[in-house]
Order: sequence, then structure tokens, then C-alpha cells
Amino acid sequence: MSFLSSYKPPAAPAAPAAPAAPATPAATSVPPRPAVPSTRPQLPDSLFPRYAKMIYDLSGMKFDQNKSYFLASKIDNRVKALGLKGFDDYLAYIESPSGRSESAFLIDEVSINETFFYRHEPQLQAFLQEILLPLTFARKTQRQTKFRIWSAAASTGDELYTLALMIKDAGLLNQGMTFELVGTDISHEALKKAREGVYKKYNIRNIPPAVLTHNFKHDPATETWRINDDMRAICRFQEMNLMDPSRTQALGVFDVIFCRNVLIYFDDGSKEQVVKNMCSVLKDDGVILLGHSENVYSQRHILRPDKTRTASIAHIKAPPGTLKHDV
Ligand SMILES: C[S@@+](CC[C@H](N)C(=O)[O-])C[C@H]1O[C@@H](n2cnc3c(N)ncnc32)[C@H](O)[C@@H]1O
Repeated sequence: MSFLSSYKPPAAPAAPAAPAAPATPAATSVPPRPAVPSTRPQLPDSLFPRYAKMIYDLSGMKFDQNKSYFLASKIDNRVKALGLKGFDDYLAYIESPSGRSESAFLIDEVSINETFFYRHEPQLQAFLQEILLPLTFARKTQRQTKFRIWSAAASTGDELYTLALMIKDAGLLNQGMTFELVGTDISHEALKKAREGVYKKYNIRNIPPAVLTHNFKHDPATETWRINDDMRAICRFQEMNLMDPSRTQALGVFDVIFCRNVLIYFDDGSKEQVVKNMCSVLKDDGVILLGHSENVYSQRHILRPDKTRTASIAHIKAPPGTLKHDV
């Protein structure tokens, strides 16, 4: 008998006993879980229209009912900051004579200040080639020595400083033309940041590396970038409501107006007021640049796409006396 034929492998260790199947729960009815109260602040339906109307009257921004949670969380920040009890008390306070200055804080809170340098670059490049270079050249031949640009919803200044950087990069500074760049916004807090000119990585991420190196001072301790003083010197910022015709008039006339990514928050009524205000300070051959998802179709009798330029990147004034049904 060979070794192999007599070999018996050691008995395999006994398999662990299968865990006992869990007992099938008795088909008893499970009591409903007690509702966990939501921690999200909620605006009562009775107050939403009052707040929405107040914000609309103050700024032209239109908030529909589906933005109720957004408004509630923003208003709640003010309720807490003032140590008030709730939305009712805050409304009573802001409507009282002693709460008059509070409206600026409310608008600061609800305004959406999203912006960054070199936003929507294709439009900016087309602006440089098709508007800025030919228009500054035309102004020189007209013996005009000042070129004025307005960033009408400037937020934290990224858009206005981008224009200053582009003007410098194109070699237009110190060529016998003074550039005056004005940034306005309704938000006091956003403008404070604009004047400081200090930005985080998110805001500067699209700046061409050479432009960033030459025009900003990097602070590695705070990982922020501060725009240099020569750029700050040609930009100024001022608080202003775009709905206000007399404040708009006080700005003086402009060759170019950037009004990007703000009309989306307005309804047709406030849009028309803003468009009229802007056209009243735009030179006859000046241009207005809107955000790429914005349209002023309902205001086409005042402002219309400039079909002579790439993909209608700019808008121009409609001839005076144009009626809506004429266009
Ligand atoms: C989304 S930011 C646009 C910033 C910049 N133009 C851009 O495109 O990157 C919109 C800005 O519009 C401002 N705004 C809203 N209503 C306004 C009003 N009635 N007058 C002036 N600024 C207003 C807000 O405070 C906010 O800073």
C-alpha cells in the first residue's frame, strides 16, 4: 500500500455554526416617529409677500415664493444680529422710524455678490478687440482725452479691476488718454471689499499667470492676493442703487457700461427702470455689455443688441422715439 493511498487528510475544522436567522419581526404596527422639528428658519406664508415687496421696493430684486427658504435664512441672520425674537419683530423694527438704516443691512444680506476676475472671458476678449481698441482710437481722433467705463453692479470689484488690468495689458495706459473706471453697487459690504482689493484664490483663479504676478502681491500667510496701487488708482467705487435716476445722473456720461449678472434678479418693471437710467448716461455711440444669460428683449425700444459686433456681445441705444411695436 502506497503512502498516498493510505493517507487520510486531517479532518477539516468544523464550520462555524451559521448565525441564527433573526427572528422575523412580528407584524405589529410600528408607531410613527415623532416629527423632528426643522432647524431651518422658515418665513410664515403671511410674512413672505411683505418681505418680498420691501426688498423689491428697496432694490428692484424680485424674490418669488420658491426663494422663501433663502430669504428666511438671510433675514434670520439679521434677526440674530439684532437680538430680536423673530421675523415679526424684525419687520416691525425695519418699518419703524428707528429701523430706517437697517434696510441697507437687509439688502447687503440678501444680495448675491458672486463674481470673479476675467469672468466670461470670450466676451471680454471680444470687448477688447471690437470695442475698447477701436473706440479709444476713435476718441483720440475726436480729441477726447478721457475714457470712462462704469461697472454698474461691481460687487467686490473683480469686474472693474479686470477691465483695468486689460487696459494696462493692452498698452493703453500713459498714451495720452486718461481712463476713469467707476464701480457702483447697492451692497456696502461688497464695496468695502472692492476698496480693500484683497482676494482669495477662487476669485483670482482665471487671471493669466503673468498678469497676476505683475499686478498683485501674494500673502502666503493668508493665501490672499492684493491688487497693486497703480490699478487701484484708476478705479473708484461708490454705493448706488441702479434704480435711482438722480444718483445715476450724478455719475456723468460713459463710453462703456458693464452691467453683467444683475438684471437676472429683476423683473421687467425694474429692468426697464435700470435700462433707462443707464441709457441716460451712455454716450450716443457708447455700448452696454450685459451678462451672457441676460436679455432686455422687453426693453428693445430703449436698448438693442448691436448686430455689427461678434455674437451681439454688446448693446447700443435704440434711436430716440423708437416704440416697442416698431422693433
Ligand atoms: C452677481 S453680482 C454681479 C457682479 C459682476 N457684475 C459680475 O458679473 O461678476 C450682482 C451684484 O448686483 C448688486 N445689485 C443688486 N441689486 C442692485 C441694485 N438695485 N443696484 C445696484 N446694485 C445691485 C448686488 O449687490 C451684487 O453685488
